[in-house]
Amino acid sequence: MKARLFSFFVMIALLLASFGAVQVTSATAGTDLTGEIPIGAVWSLTGDAAVYGPSQKNASAMAVEEINKSGMLGAAKIKLFTEDDRSTKEGAITAFDKLLKKDKVVAILGPTLSNSAKASDPIAQAAKVPVLAVSNTAGGIVEIGDFIFRDSLPEMLVQPNTIRETMRKLGYKKVAVLYGDDDVFTKGGYDAFKKALNDEGVQILTTETFNKKDNDFSAQLTKIKGLKPDAIIVSALAEEAAGIMSQGRQLGIPASVRFIGGNGFNSPKLAQLAGPAAEDAITGAAWLISNDTPGNKVFVEAYNKQYGSNPDQFAAQAYTGVYILANAIKTAGSSSSTAIRDAMANIKNLDTVLGKFSFDAQRNPVHSPVVQVIKNGKFELFK
Ligand code: ALA
Repeated sequence: MKARLFSFFVMIALLLASFGAVQVTSATAGTDLTGEIPIGAVWSLTGDAAVYGPSQKNASAMAVEEINKSGMLGAAKIKLFTEDDRSTKEGAITAFDKLLKKDKVVAILGPTLSNSAKASDPIAQAAKVPVLAVSNTAGGIVEIGDFIFRDSLPEMLVQPNTIRETMRKLGYKKVAVLYGDDDVFTKGGYDAFKKALNDEGVQILTTETFNKKDNDFSAQLTKIKGLKPDAIIVSALAEEAAGIMSQGRQLGIPASVRFIGGNGFNSPKLAQLAGPAAEDAITGAAWLISNDTPGNKVFVEAYNKQYGSNPDQFAAQAYTGVYILANAIKTAGSSSSTAIRDAMANIKNLDTVLGKFSFDAQRNPVHSPVVQVIKNGKFELFK
């Protein structure tokens, strides 16, 4: 009787599998995958955040190429559909709609900005298609739902370390704070800095704000200069941050008063835009080019060879994102969105260029933050 019941279930399982209703889920099942696996990527390739999107696009394309060449997914290949969200919420919504409805992607990387993710991620959550954010660092991202993950360390995790490290080495006691109050990331970065400063007992002399697309910061900087802070904490995206640094130095804020910022600073474009005014600026980050992490040297060399410049932190996180997805697909032995989601939630101690990588129970990344400083226009470890 038992044997008959068993073969009955086997038959049903085989029947369902032939209709694609059952996915193979063993850890070694990667080789059973076939065909093209459509994955979407939404980057800010134009608009205000176009300082970040191109390196994310380059690195994700490179990772897909490597994975497809390596046979990591057996006979299957990833097909990457890349969209430009123009650094706007509307652009991100349009991109997600297209990727989900037309391209029928099974997972999405991006979008670049937290501000856009807040608008677009709920669409993927409703469709039960996993999103892996690779640069969203504001609060409230993974809280959108159980299909939303990120490999980008949130500001709340990075900035306590930045403030502790810089305070210990620079010995500042009183600072001025300047942040954009109309963007989810710059506001979230401010919240993280404020908490870290309060926790360390640093005096905040003044808190000044600006808006997106502002290019005159002289009123806020003149007030800040008059208060003689030991350092200036800035939560801004790169373009505004460059304007703030340039104008601050033009107004005579001395170079000894360091600018300290968050993830918006982590693009080499900052130094290109601000020139010498960006020298010695300090930033909390998730990756350093000199990291001795698994595969980092090979990644940096390959990126350089392919694109003729060094990768930045945004590139490293996008590159890692593709490998995380591929790993989840391989482990699931399936390209179903739900199976990918479940496999991704279980990723622990994966070797990546960011270091040993795990997701916590809230689908946030677990690995160590770093502090970097701009020297001769390039990032290096802050010592
Ligand atoms: N870290 C920035 C954001 O979250 C790019 O919007």
